Amino acid sequence: MPVLAPSTRMQRDLAGKGDYWSFTGHQRRQHAHGLLSYPAMMIPEMMGEMLRRLRIYDRSISMVYDPFVGSGTVLVESMLRGLDFYGTDINPLAVLACRVKAGPYNAKSVAAAVAQLLKVQAIDHRIAMPEFPGRAKWFGDEVSRALATIAHSVRRLTAVEVRRVLWLALANVARTVSNSRGTTYKLHKRANDEVPAVAEDVFSQFHERLSASSERMNQFWKQLEQAGHARNGRYHGEVRIDCTDVRNATTALPPAGVDLLLTSPPYGDNTSTIPYGQYSYLPLNWVDLDDIGSDALDLTIENPYAIDRLSLGGSILGGDARAEILRPMSPTFANVHTRLRLFPKDRQKRLTAFVYDLHVAITCLAPRVRSGGHMVWVVGDRRIGGRSIQLSAIVTELLAAAGFSLQACLQRRIPSKKMAMRNSLGKTMQEETILGFRRD
Ligand SMILES: C[S@@+](CC[C@H](N)C(=O)[O-])C[C@H]1O[C@@H](n2cnc3c(N)ncnc32)[C@H](O)[C@@H]1O
Repeated sequence: MPVLAPSTRMQRDLAGKGDYWSFTGHQRRQHAHGLLSYPAMMIPEMMGEMLRRLRIYDRSISMVYDPFVGSGTVLVESMLRGLDFYGTDINPLAVLACRVKAGPYNAKSVAAAVAQLLKVQAIDHRIAMPEFPGRAKWFGDEVSRALATIAHSVRRLTAVEVRRVLWLALANVARTVSNSRGTTYKLHKRANDEVPAVAEDVFSQFHERLSASSERMNQFWKQLEQAGHARNGRYHGEVRIDCTDVRNATTALPPAGVDLLLTSPPYGDNTSTIPYGQYSYLPLNWVDLDDIGSDALDLTIENPYAIDRLSLGGSILGGDARAEILRPMSPTFANVHTRLRLFPKDRQKRLTAFVYDLHVAITCLAPRVRSGGHMVWVVGDRRIGGRSIQLSAIVTELLAAAGFSLQACLQRRIPSKKMAMRNSLGKTMQEETILGFRRD
């Protein structure tokens, strides 16, 4: 059953003509938005416009929460508007990017560190290579030694905020110089006829990234300072990012709850949609996790699948009992679940695992929004076995059960022709739905 647009003030205030929310002509990612390549990033201009309109709709919005914060698109757009922000993500790579963006940012110290790292141009053979499962498969020895040499120099810098900027640059490079294909989010060995990276590539790509990253950070902080939202690299509002599962976050949120929860959750379980953890496995093995924060250490990266198993839909245990809990709450889930009986059993199990975890997440998130506050979810209706799975309807039903009423429903096309459009998920998912809710 499609979600019908309600005739509410939020619907009228958010509606745009025709294809408005697709943002087809959007620019390349500007300033801090381009610090990390991460799967399924939201279009910054779209999230910015959403925040602008929501703040006209409700002028009291001052604190925003993105529970699936990813690379921090909503974080950056919130900071540009001087808002308080809270974000959570289970993936330490996403948290690293968000903590870099949130600052504090000391441009002089970063410039000095960049100058120092630009001098590192050759392998130091005295430095031991880290060993982790798959290291020799995914990185040539020379490439590993070059990455280890850079990591060693980063480690010697004194300020953790500065080291984080450099770790993020190194994380980006670790993926591109690995033996994994650049065209999929999953780890796949490159074809044998592709020329593997050498140490020189590592140093030159890192230097390029470093210069670009510091330039991007300078631009971002200049904008914040010009808008009066920051001074001397310190943001005036409150920002807190936690590396945690939304389902067990113990939060420092105001007891009354946030004004607005704005998010784009995963599209489905990691096996059949986007494996964020697998994508991040190689970069994370070259970064000092304790520099991301002690909370990042709690999450294991012992193999490429560990983070994904902890994420929404990561475990298919308890399927039937979970389905029975969900069926009365979500008629759309019940309907799809019944239809999937005709398909191989794992499809049904994976759908149940994801929707059940989403339901638990929603139950945890609901009280974190103040009474009369808002939630906006950007969700994709994917397909399983050629059949549409209306995640937008399922989310609407689960949120209704948690005390939120639908206030707006808008369609958008996904204009990007990037990876997600080419993999099995992308072939079938080219539209998203923006759903707005109010806590009753
Ligand atoms: C669609 S992405 C968010 C992308 C983000 N909007 C951006 O622009 O970069 C979904 C995020 O949800 C995170 N995630 C999945 N399961 C989670 C869980 N149980 N708790 C917290 N985060 C989770 C993933 O790590 C991923 O970063």
